[in-house]
Amino acid sequence: MSNIKTVVTANELRARLDRLPRLSLADLPTPLLDCPRLSKVLDGPHILVKREDQTGMAFGGNKVREFEYSVAPAVEGGYDVLLHGAASQSNQSRLTAAVAARLGLKAVMVGKKDARAEPVNGNLLLSHLFGAEVNLVETAEEREAILERLRSEGRRVYNTSSDGYYLRSVSYVDGFLELWDQLQERDIRPDALYVCSGVHTHVGLVVGARALGIPLRIVGISPSPQDNIAANANLAKVANEVSQILDLDLDFSGADFESYGDYAGEAYGVVTPASKEVVVLAAQTEALVLDPVYTGKTFGGLIDHIRQGQFTADQTVVFVHTGGTPALFAYGDEIL
Ligand SMILES: Cc1ncc(COP(=O)(O)O)c(C=O)c1O
Repeated sequence: MSNIKTVVTANELRARLDRLPRLSLADLPTPLLDCPRLSKVLDGPHILVKREDQTGMAFGGNKVREFEYSVAPAVEGGYDVLLHGAASQSNQSRLTAAVAARLGLKAVMVGKKDARAEPVNGNLLLSHLFGAEVNLVETAEEREAILERLRSEGRRVYNTSSDGYYLRSVSYVDGFLELWDQLQERDIRPDALYVCSGVHTHVGLVVGARALGIPLRIVGISPSPQDNIAANANLAKVANEVSQILDLDLDFSGADFESYGDYAGEAYGVVTPASKEVVVLAAQTEALVLDPVYTGKTFGGLIDHIRQGQFTADQTVVFVHTGGTPALFAYGDEIL
């Protein structure tokens, strides 16, 4: 682990975040929920859930907090299209459509015509409902033709994946401050945090903890198979960019990150026996709704670590629920 060069106070960190442009989209703070029945069934540590699925708008999720920072430059810069493309059941596409509706902008989705594209359900249904122009394509040429049409119409297009990229991680520095306040209010010092490791939520939490000088194990579970060492190195690169934006003078390397692709199954988006078990278990013990693509995998990783004996009953683990619950409706056939 590299040396901590600068540690800022929470107030100073908040002040640096406050200097950045920000939209008001999320209902914050999100709740921090106790899960005593789940802890008991697993014979495991105290489990707290940070409810980022409850960020409020359009069925919530981590993207709502992220877009407060990352979409602000689109508004300041006078862009008129928010673009996103990924899997047909993309949460980010749903929230791009929702935020565009809220801001009076056009949303264009260029998603994949994949196995979950029909029947129209879950996130895809919501993207339609929020008024997005939904395109589901099979080839790069089809995608390029849509982008070319937007250019020829003179549209100013803001891609919610690539534009404002590092600001999405910045938002979870803010998320870390919020969570840490809640834990301190309750006098809880967790032994670990578990979060879905795409990029941004994981990176923001790690940067937040390091900036405040808090030694905390933060475990990321990837929704996709990955080379863990390469993934950690990439997370560190993003963390260094975030550190610069916030003027933190921190230096991250791959050794500062712990992430696992081992719970993803064969490919992104597949339901594994473990993710199915977890979705059902969380629902039936705590009425907690997870999804099989992101949070089900993450919680599956946590459960595996509990079963390996990594945590004792007197320890506390925080699970960061990053949302994604509408996708569940497109996976009903595999969950029940
Ligand atoms: C439910 C859910 N959790 C986690 C992630 C990972 O997101 P990020 O890289 O922004 O942390 C995503 C990404 O789409 C998601 O939809």
